[in-house]
Amino acid sequence: MKDPDFGKGGPARDLFGEIDRLRRERRAVILAHYYQDADIQDVADYVGDSLGLSQAAAATDAEVIVFAGVHFMAETAKLLCPDKTVLLPDLDAGCSLADGCPPDAFAAFLERYPGHKVVSYINCSAATKAQSDVICTSSNAVKIVASFPPDQPLVFAPDRFLGDWVSRQLGRDLVLWPGSCEVHETFSERRLVELKVTYPDAVVAAHPECPPAVLQHADHIGSTTSILDFARRSPARRIIVVTEPGILHRMRQENPDKELIPVPGADESCSCNECPYMKKNTLEKLYLCLRDGTPEISLDPALAARAREPIARMLELSR
Ligand code: 13P
Ligand code: SF4
Repeated sequence: MKDPDFGKGGPARDLFGEIDRLRRERRAVILAHYYQDADIQDVADYVGDSLGLSQAAAATDAEVIVFAGVHFMAETAKLLCPDKTVLLPDLDAGCSLADGCPPDAFAAFLERYPGHKVVSYINCSAATKAQSDVICTSSNAVKIVASFPPDQPLVFAPDRFLGDWVSRQLGRDLVLWPGSCEVHETFSERRLVELKVTYPDAVVAAHPECPPAVLQHADHIGSTTSILDFARRSPARRIIVVTEPGILHRMRQENPDKELIPVPGADESCSCNECPYMKKNTLEKLYLCLRDGTPEISLDPALAARAREPIARMLELSR
């Protein structure tokens, strides 16, 4: 760490002020996901879901993008903005979905399905994206899958629960890569049902990365942005929220009069409904990364060229 004062009992810093000064000096934009800590969301220029963040990255004229999210999100921003510097406060901010779909194993899997087109959830590496025909997010997955003719066989990767939900929405078979989100798969159906019994007037909003046993109890299923829209629009005074609790920061701001009830993971002794990867980023690391211009996302240009195409196709289909 270059700053001897930092983190060693030195003078307290006005991190918000410093981040703001550096952002202007570096001509940087800070993009943050809804699962980030509240202070990171508060300092960000834009907070959104994966689709909104990709669109914001593609549209920015800033020279530097600081991505307060996980690796695949920052990598997507770099794919869309190859000439910009893209920084991620902690390079270890991974994702169980991306890590659970190694590109070589995915290539071998695809060989078993000749004639299939490949729809990949954005939560995957550039090397997996490069093997895909089109990318989707949780906000456009149904629309992207439906854009293929009904007789076109499809592989959907890497989230089997999102793929299963899309398949049921469209009444269409999909070949599913067996991946899952280690956070959303831990939500407990038992705890959710108990909460519904305790609060019979509450409505349930869930992310489609949850298993079907959980989703069957939801009044609304959608991306983080769509869950926030639902919470604002719903006349219900109580909302049971089945996604990462970072979303509650924005939801509380937008719904000061509603009671928001997070669902715990199956093991109540841990905070396993929190994404450990998202939480690797901190305000301090955000400050350091703006100050030092590192850690930076870099990509092999040939791989990037192949991975960019299916993302561009998604953005085109999402207009
Ligand atoms: P959203 O695109 O809905 O924000 O989801 C991203 C994610 O990683 C959910 O776990
Ligand atoms: Fe990945 Fe799940 Fe974390 Fe989202 S919540 S970034 S899908 S591990």
